[in-house]
Amino acid sequence: MPTAATRRSSAASNSSSQGAPARPRQLARLRAAPELLPSAVKEILRWVLPVVHFARLVTQDTELGGVPIPAGDRVVLFYPSANRDTDVFPEPDGFDIARVPNDHLAFGGFGEHYCLGAHLARLQLQTNFRHILARLDDIELDGPPGRLRSGFGDRIKRLPIRCSARWTVLSPSCGDRCEPGDVRGQATILLCVTGQGEASP
Ligand code: HEM
Repeated sequence: MPTAATRRSSAASNSSSQGAPARPRQLARLRAAPELLPSAVKEILRWVLPVVHFARLVTQDTELGGVPIPAGDRVVLFYPSANRDTDVFPEPDGFDIARVPNDHLAFGGFGEHYCLGAHLARLQLQTNFRHILARLDDIELDGPPGRLRSGFGDRIKRLPIRCSARWTVLSPSCGDRCEPGDVRGQATILLCVTGQGEASP
């Protein structure tokens, strides 16, 4: 059973897989310059919306952007809005895997509740994409994604893609003498994420 946190990483992985085939030039750029993977993952986290909002209880009277907020009020941070702040991100709706600086807030606002799993999530995403890029070519969407109806996170439950797959075959029958080889072929893959809620049609 995946935890909410691992589901968020899969959400970023899957939502960005949805974005990648739709942005073949960015995907080709990443293949040509794999050293961009860390900044690509940052941009994926900014651009995809793994967490939509979190609410916080105000513990003391304060002021935010000129708006007085009394203790006891609740404030809600909408991460998609923060990650598309035109004062911070030039062309915020653009998807640029080499965006620098990229001070996205996908993991929170650097306060004491900053995501405890941020390093792990970034590592998971980099590892996922390193393996995907090494094994799958010509990735393209093969039908509409099935989205999860959720106000909390942007989740994709089904993502049909078409791609060429490279599998390295190691036959146990020939032991160490066996040369690994590449087998190429077309594959249609259906990525599925488990999670609560309903997939949209
Ligand atoms: C793409 C993946 C992930 C995203 C986008 C994400 C996002 C977030 C966000 C926005 C918060 C709230 C931060 C705040 O209020 O300032 C949070 C908190 C948290 N996250 Fe993550 N997270 C992810 C993965 C993970 C993973 C893999 C783990 C653990 C292995 C994890 C553990 C936590 C914990 C424990 C908190 C609460 C921290 C606290 O309140 O002190 N998260 N996360």
